Parts: sequence; structure tokens; C-alpha cells
Amino acid sequence: MRYQKGKGSLFEQILKESGNETGSCGLCGGRGICGKCRVKFLSGAPLPSSVDRRFFTPAQLREGYRLACLARPAGDCEVEPCFVRGPEARILTEIQKITGAAMPGKPETESLYEPDRAGRGQFCAVDLGTTTVVMQLINRQTGNALHTCAFQNPQRMYGIDVLARISAAEEGRAELLQKLIVDGLEKGLKEIEQSGRPDEIILSGNTAMEHLLLGYPVDTLGKAPFVPAHTGFSRFLLGGYPAVFLPGISAFTGADIVSGIYALGMAETEAFTLFIDLGTNGEMAIGNRDGILCTATAAGSAFEGNVSSEVLGTDMTALACDMLQAGCMDESGLLQEPWFTNGYPVGGREEVLIRQQDIRNLQMAKAAVCTGVSLLLDQTEGWHRLARVYLAGGFGYELDVEKAVRIGLIPGILEKRCVAVGNTSLAGAVRFGREGQKERAQRENCLQHIVKISRSLNLAEQPGFEAHYMQSMTFGQR
Ligand code: FES
Repeated sequence: MRYQKGKGSLFEQILKESGNETGSCGLCGGRGICGKCRVKFLSGAPLPSSVDRRFFTPAQLREGYRLACLARPAGDCEVEPCFVRGPEARILTEIQKITGAAMPGKPETESLYEPDRAGRGQFCAVDLGTTTVVMQLINRQTGNALHTCAFQNPQRMYGIDVLARISAAEEGRAELLQKLIVDGLEKGLKEIEQSGRPDEIILSGNTAMEHLLLGYPVDTLGKAPFVPAHTGFSRFLLGGYPAVFLPGISAFTGADIVSGIYALGMAETEAFTLFIDLGTNGEMAIGNRDGILCTATAAGSAFEGNVSSEVLGTDMTALACDMLQAGCMDESGLLQEPWFTNGYPVGGREEVLIRQQDIRNLQMAKAAVCTGVSLLLDQTEGWHRLARVYLAGGFGYELDVEKAVRIGLIPGILEKRCVAVGNTSLAGAVRFGREGQKERAQRENCLQHIVKISRSLNLAEQPGFEAHYMQSMTFGQR
């Protein structure tokens, strides 16, 4: 590919030229962290940066390998993109587990917002995740999925997590990010239409994904006091269909959590439960019909598929437990020799290595989640009255709870109370869609009630947060 000086950075030109193909690479959005935006300069290679020297051997640097996001060529040049693909996280569409087991400033489209009042017809439920998007055509009467379409969020090429996307939007790419996701959803709708036309679309997702889709300003989401531009129901048209985005609670606790609370029936029962949704944000909520306390922790990418390694988050948790037991690393997370120098080969394969940085990422994510859970339980005096712990999302679904307890991700006292519940964000959208025969106010009341009885906790402001976090950094059961 030919890079033309003066027509945007090399990184931007490659992204533009490769379209969505790079979206599955798990890029860090040009922050020099993931090392996946590799290119080989065929002419005009700039001097390597200190970050290049971390990712490439001297021989590779001499051959012209650089990270595209940091390269600043002096003039026009020829490059060959060699972007590295990350591990493909399994996209979780499973919602049956909870339906039954756990049940105890855009244009308004009021006149169009008319789901089938007789409870027939079909609608489209969407879980708009930071990493993946799942769309399902649902038969309103039976609740059965007639068609499922799942894909990686095309905004991924501009950052793997919420903060990177917010930064990209603030740097002038808000419209581009909106277009990427609207195009992705419309393409998904075209596929779904092969099985039938929905009479409405119900969307759930975190607050940043909602803001980026609907064009709300995101500048206040990423900095204190973290006030979202919008938290209520959003109604709009998507692909010509009436669509509704479910409400959120705060900048950190979005519609995905409200939807999960709704799917699990947490606000309708006396049983005191904890709900943990581990993705790029570790979001959690605790309580019952008397009140719900929510929070979120920055888990980074450790639970979605590690940025710098080729290993999925659930596998990292299990591997860390095995490495700890085998003495390949100590409780402080320090890899022993020769693994510190050479990396720890996964399954004996030299091409897939766990490095010290991967362990550090897992350690920070684990400490953040463990601290969040402990503080929620402390604040609600919930340690002994907790009936159940719901583990949502792909990570929760595939997590080896016993190993998660052994490394200290989940407090040991909760081990026997954990239940994997699948994609609760999607399940809540399905439940809401199935209530389509009710009057609009009546249908929305349940979710508004959840928002009303929920309170958001900013973990970093809690006394004892830092001490808890530092203690939780070590590996081992607690
Ligand atoms: S290092 Fe360049 S996008 Fe991550």
C-alpha cells in the first residue's frame, strides 16, 4: 500500500483502506499497547520508536517492521500491513439459562412505536457490546429465537475498550464511530429479514455504546464527575424500523446492567443477589426489591481476550491458577525463570506465550473485580444474606469458578453460590420485547422502577478502596 504524506496518519490510511477487516484484530486504538498494528516498510522506514523496540527484534527492525499507529514517515512510502489477529472470543448468544431458572436528543417515533398489541409478531433484540454485537429475531408469543446474527463491534478498530472509543470520539471520530455501528446493525438487520421482518428493535448496551450509536456527546463520560448526556429510554429509527434503547443508570452502569437486573428479576424478589457481568468493564449490582447498589470497575481487556497475548480471558484465569500451583509464578504474580525471560508456553506451544505483562493485566483486572465485589458486600452488609451470585457474559459463562476462587478473583465464601446466566443484556431486551402487548407506560414502568431503586457507587471514592485493591493484587484464595 502507498502511504501519502498529508492525507492523514499512516494508521488512519491503513484503517480506511482495509475497511472492517482490521476490526477483529483487537487493536488498542493507536496507544502502542497491543502491538497488533504491524506493518513492514518497503521504502522510507522511519526510525524505530522505543515501543517498536519492545515489539520487534533488531533483525525485524532492520527489515523495516514498525507499529503503524506510532510510525511517522517523513514522506510518501510503501508499506505492507501485517496486522496481527487476536484470539476470537466466543460470542455468547445463550439466554435460555436464565429465562426460567432465575425468574422468581433523537427523533421520537411515537406514532411508529406500535409493537403488536396482541402479543404476536416478532421483534429484534440487540445486545450492543463493546466487543461483540448480538441480534436476535424473537417470536413474541413463544420467546423463541428465529434467527441469530452475531458480529464483532466494527468500532473495535478505534479502540478495544470504552475509554479508547471515547477518546477517538473526542478526537473528531464520533460521526465515523456512529456510522460504523449503524452500518453494522443495518447489515445485521438485512440478514435477519431473511427470516422475517421485526415490528420493533429493542437495544441494550453500556452507556458509551448507547451514546456513540445515538450521537449523544461523550466528553463527560470519560472524566469526573462522569455525568452521561442521557440515561432514559431513547426512541429512534434504525434501518427504517422503530427502535428503542433501554435506559441506563449512570456513566458506568448502562442499559446492559438494567437489562440484566430485569432479566434476572432481581428487583422483583426478596432474595438478596449479586450480579456480575465481566467484560471490558466489570459491572456489578447487588440487592433485591428494596434497593440495588451498582458499580463498575475497569477490567481492561483481561476478561475479553488479552490485548498483548493470544489467550482468552477465561483461559488466562485457569492458566494463572495452574502456574501458581506448579510454582511457575509466585503469589505476587512474578514469573519464575526461565518463564520470566522466555515467556510461559501455553500447552507447550512456543508460539503462544504468556508474558509478565499478561499476568500483570490479569492481576489488575482481578484486583479491581475482587475489590468491587468486597466493597459492595461490605456496604450492603450482604456477606451472609447473599442467596446467589449470577455470573453473566461470555467470561462468566465459561469461567472455571473453582480456579477463579483459587487465584482470588472471587471470594471463596461465594464459590457455592455462583451460577452462570449467559447473556443477560440480551435476555432483558428479549423480556422487554415480549411485553409488547402491554401499553407503553406499563411496559416501561418495570425498567424505570429498577432505575429508581438503584444507586451507583464510585469505587475509587470509597474509603479503603486502595488498601483493598492492593491486597487483592496477590494471587491466592481469600
Ligand atoms: S499498538 Fe498500534 S493499535 Fe495497538
